[in-house]
Amino acid sequence: MSAPPATSSAIPIQRVAESRLPDVDLTRVVFGSVYSDHMLSATCRDGAWETPSIGPFRPIALHPATAVFHYAQAIFEGMKAHRTDEGVPVLFRPRQNWKRLNRSARRMVMADVPEELFLDGLRTLVRLDRDWIPPNAHGSLYIRPFLMAVDPYIGVRPSREYQFHIFTAPVGAYYEGSVNLYVTRRWIRAAEGGTGEAKAAGNYSGSYAGMAEASEHGCDNVLWLDSKEHRYIEECGTMNMVFVLGGRVVTPPLGGTILPGITRDSVLRLCREEMGLEVEERPISIEEVVEAHADGVLSECFGVGTAAVVTRVASLVGDGVEVRLPEPTAVQDEIRDRLTTIRLGRRPDPFGWVERLD
Ligand code: COI
Repeated sequence: MSAPPATSSAIPIQRVAESRLPDVDLTRVVFGSVYSDHMLSATCRDGAWETPSIGPFRPIALHPATAVFHYAQAIFEGMKAHRTDEGVPVLFRPRQNWKRLNRSARRMVMADVPEELFLDGLRTLVRLDRDWIPPNAHGSLYIRPFLMAVDPYIGVRPSREYQFHIFTAPVGAYYEGSVNLYVTRRWIRAAEGGTGEAKAAGNYSGSYAGMAEASEHGCDNVLWLDSKEHRYIEECGTMNMVFVLGGRVVTPPLGGTILPGITRDSVLRLCREEMGLEVEERPISIEEVVEAHADGVLSECFGVGTAAVVTRVASLVGDGVEVRLPEPTAVQDEIRDRLTTIRLGRRPDPFGWVERLD
């Protein structure tokens, strides 16, 4: 576990007159229903960032022609803060989120967010609203940094002005229990050369039609397949996918069309470096999964992501596919436990993933 560099933040803070926290039951927070007291905001004009500030969590007023409303030049990150059993707020691999945000920014031709702005802003905000972190048994503080194009101009071109904000929200589980995923060849999430590996806002709303169909079939989300052959498994939109096949951990490779998940990377490292499991990052087709299930070789399927953590997949159904996953979930249970205990500082952190905000 590491401590952040000992810089005293120069970010001006305007505190709320009265915290809303006394009205919130942190042991019962539904994902995305409650937001903490403060948010960080910063503006970039023609490549130059102004001094960020932290103020009360509030609506953002924008001109109706603002670019982001029309052309979705917007990207975001998802991260979480927890509290150790001693009550110290901790972040998990925050620098990786900063790096990924800027990879997304480059893909969407947006301004880069400076490391100091992102990390100092994040640390200052989480320290300020640390009391909003739910007790460990009930959830975490979800952190949502986002960058959007704010030129009041409806011509189609990258914006010159951007706003960067970070807000936080106490959250319970994103998925309660296991999920059922819908297999479809009708819709795609991403194609080669597209924006699939960026955390671009439009990737999510572009998935809604498939998600609506999934919901009509009693499923929680879509198991996205590749755009060319409609065979190879990509991700599920909120999670990267992992299969346990004949004792080996198999996951689709990062080929430009799926999100390079930080949880995905952490899980694969735990599997390889701590659990001694063989890990294969390779294309895996839906046919292979169906066959492995029929042969009794497929023992587990789960999704991994910041919001979802490690979520069991109970079934893959649709388009002639029906795979009901067996109950034993030893591999995913061990991964979840290893991830959680490192994150909460309950055991040594050999990877240097956890940052304490003492
Ligand atoms: C996350 O896991 O943080 C995500 O961004 C997925 C979803 C909640 C949008």
